[in-house]
Amino acid sequence: MPLVTSKEMFQKAYDGGYAIGAFNVNNMEIIQGITEAAKEENAPLILQVSAGARKYANHTYLMKLIEAALIETDLPICVHLDHGDSFELCKSCIDGGFTSVMIDGSHLSFEENIKLTKQVVEYAHDKGVVVEGELGRLAGIEDAVNVSAEDAAYTNPAEVIEFVERTGVDSLAIAIGTSHGAYKFKPGQKPQLRFDILEKVSEKLPGFPIVLHGASSVIPEFVEMINANGGQMPDAIGIPEDMLRKAASMSVCKINIDSDLRLALTGSIRKHFAEHPDHFDPRQYLKPAREAIKGLVKHKLVNVLGCNGKA
Ligand code: G3H
Ligand code: 13P
Ligand code: ZN
Repeated sequence: MPLVTSKEMFQKAYDGGYAIGAFNVNNMEIIQGITEAAKEENAPLILQVSAGARKYANHTYLMKLIEAALIETDLPICVHLDHGDSFELCKSCIDGGFTSVMIDGSHLSFEENIKLTKQVVEYAHDKGVVVEGELGRLAGIEDAVNVSAEDAAYTNPAEVIEFVERTGVDSLAIAIGTSHGAYKFKPGQKPQLRFDILEKVSEKLPGFPIVLHGASSVIPEFVEMINANGGQMPDAIGIPEDMLRKAASMSVCKINIDSDLRLALTGSIRKHFAEHPDHFDPRQYLKPAREAIKGLVKHKLVNVLGCNGKA
């Protein structure tokens, strides 16, 4: 099966009350862990690549690894640019075979965001590629876009119709209280999301796919595994799984997960070296790390996203 866009995936997810997992990829083991999990669960997939991942691993290497995963799994897979910050970056990914791009103009004024997003949509649609836009600002680090907690702002539902109509975007990322990274809430703080904003957005845009960034749950098992084996992570709090399930049952069709993959990988490697301090063959510690990613992704597909069996 060739690479697909997210159009059909989102339509089915919206109608079926589930969400597609958009997992960030940076190397072979991460791609293998995610795609093996999706194959076993027969789940559609979005593999997303940030500008940083592209710099780290190189566009061609990542594309070829994803092509290999397509051959191995025969699943519907969409390759998506995560947090594109310029027209040039989006164009380069579109020209290089991505089937979806995000243009993140959330740090710009409303008018500037529309202008930039529309420019990307025109180029992308001409090539059969879909586009995700963003309205509202999440706290945390978004690659080149660094947003402090004070600068974060919820999406204003009154703006979404105009944004979608004037830009022509295919999906919209909104800010309802999630944030990037492992420290989403302060210690002792009760995680909360603004489902009232999500509801208002959905009322304004019936049938339109909404995207949730910063949606890792920061699974305690992996933070504990890191700290039990020499790590020093302070208290880390993520988005509770029941909130993600609720979002997936509403208009959220794409849920972005990166930090949980990082924690699973790092926890597994730290544990391996604590147990085998003499090992130095990378396969010895990358094999269990890949398995940890696979186990984590299976859990997400089945228990959080609900997209198992939907490929
Ligand atoms: O939202 C950001 C993603 O977690 C990607 O992170 O820019 O460090 O690759 P990165
Ligand atoms: P997390 O940091 O919560 O995994 O979010 C990832 C993300 O939104 C990528 O765009
Ligand atoms: Zn993001």
